[in-house]
Amino acid sequence: MDSTDFAYQIIKWYKKNKRVLPWRKTKNPYVIWISEIILQQTKVNQGLPYFNKFIDSCPDINTLAKSSEETILKLWQGLGYYSRARNLHFTAKFIVHELNGVFPNNYDEIIKLKGIGKYTAAAISSFAFNEKKAVVDGNVYRILSRYHKIKDPIDSTIGQKLFEKIATDSLPKKDHSIYNQAIMDFGALQCIPKNPNCQCCPLKPKCIAYGEKVVGSFPYKAKKNKIKKRWFNFFVITDGEFIYLEKRTENDIWKNLYQFPMIEQKLQTPNPFENLTKKATYSNNSSCVHHLSHQKINANFWSYGLDFLPKNKNYLSVKVESVKNYPVPKIVENFINENLLVKH
Ligand code: ADE
Repeated sequence: MDSTDFAYQIIKWYKKNKRVLPWRKTKNPYVIWISEIILQQTKVNQGLPYFNKFIDSCPDINTLAKSSEETILKLWQGLGYYSRARNLHFTAKFIVHELNGVFPNNYDEIIKLKGIGKYTAAAISSFAFNEKKAVVDGNVYRILSRYHKIKDPIDSTIGQKLFEKIATDSLPKKDHSIYNQAIMDFGALQCIPKNPNCQCCPLKPKCIAYGEKVVGSFPYKAKKNKIKKRWFNFFVITDGEFIYLEKRTENDIWKNLYQFPMIEQKLQTPNPFENLTKKATYSNNSSCVHHLSHQKINANFWSYGLDFLPKNKNYLSVKVESVKNYPVPKIVENFINENLLVKH
């Protein structure tokens, strides 16, 4: 490796600038797996407390497999993309029951596990077993697209194949584990999406986008992110002692989490429940907007006494003070904290 080599520069930068992170102190594939799943679509600062809480509660795969899904979703509350938590739990049970509790030790076996794609299989196999596999995530797309000035869209099959090849060709001869950690930090701290400080970048002599002053245009994307608007009406039905909850069981956002009984509307109307709720007294406690990556949720919370309950649904009646034990979406958690729990 000579000193102008891409990987050499990335590793050299990392040795000076790396973040000290708990999952970097271990070769335990279980711990690395948990960290990588938490860090998907999630920044290190946000993921770190969840990682610590998760490992405290489930220090090994047997404990995770024996936990209830509800416990795992509760640990995940507020982090979003809850399928990650459901898949994690599923895969822990699979490894314990079908693989004698032994985490697979190579990329080809790791990628067969539910909830683990190419990126995560490369991360685990390189970090835990130093396998020669390149991690390719948003950080890597950004760095490579700028360095080589690649215009192929990162959300196209052709683009992804090309980036994978270049990422693999960029791997050093050894130290794959360090290099992969290094490129993640380089993307998070140096080659950042907006206004990167290229002046102090060790890659600038050979970065084509920098040379042509077009760093800000990379990476290229084919499609614009489409946001679906949704209107959720939550019914907060309580006498102060008991309250109703329902479990979300459909294949939709927040599957297997709990919420107040909810009716979704196709469109927003001023008072959607005029007829439905004529006999009961209610108040509209609060409204809020919640942004997900592909959805904008407009939520209304309507408060009622226990005399009002829409029929034909399996609602759970629970003590108000036990609501905090159920895994709920962030907007429901916020409502509970602001309106239901007595503040001390
Ligand atoms: N993001 C995803 N994986 C990461 C890792 N291992 N270190 C830092 N950031 C990450």
